[in-house]
Amino acid sequence: MQIFIDSADTVELAALAATGLVDGVTTNPSIIAKAGKPIFPTLKAICEIVSGPVSAESVALDHDGMVAEGRKLMAVAPNIVVKLPLTMEGLKACRTLTEQYGAKTNVTLCFSAVQALMAAKAGATYISPFLGRLDDGGQDGMELIREIRAIYDNYGYETQVLSASIRTVAHVRDAALAGTDCATIPPNIFRALYKHVLTDVGLEAFLKDWKASGQEI
Ligand code: E4P
Repeated sequence: MQIFIDSADTVELAALAATGLVDGVTTNPSIIAKAGKPIFPTLKAICEIVSGPVSAESVALDHDGMVAEGRKLMAVAPNIVVKLPLTMEGLKACRTLTEQYGAKTNVTLCFSAVQALMAAKAGATYISPFLGRLDDGGQDGMELIREIRAIYDNYGYETQVLSASIRTVAHVRDAALAGTDCATIPPNIFRALYKHVLTDVGLEAFLKDWKASGQEI
């Protein structure tokens, strides 16, 4: 499973990328705005930190505007993935950017399995189902991941399922069990993924016993 970081904080991204466990990055207009720096140099810096796919979202609402913005975003670096909203115009722009300009695309704000089917038909490289936001509204976000996985496998669609809006470590586990291709994870959840209290307790006991033995390696 590929792990992407859902952030535009370049200091944080550099620290996490140093683990060698980060496969890519996703951003959205809110994340870029929160980072508080101009979008293009920020994206350029992110693409220098992480060589894998870096999603950058258009903000236009019409096909032509999305295609124009998508091309500007693609010019930042070869690993830019153009993120487009799951609207009719977004799906049209997805097809144009893919077929005419060779773009990799991430169709975002997916909240239903049939929306994901439409994105696959439009040739999306990634589909981003927002499982946390569905959970927030009292629905079962993970069920959406399972449904999309089943539909894509039924028809052999190559669009990759990118579980998004991850809120917990359990979301990562359950998305992996559901067969997601990738998950985009906030930095705090990434840092929690390798932690377990019994690992810390066990390590402390090993080191105590080793010290008592008086040996060295
Ligand atoms: C995904 O591409 C989005 O940037 C992100 O996962 C949304 O997460 P949120 O619901 O926590 O804002």
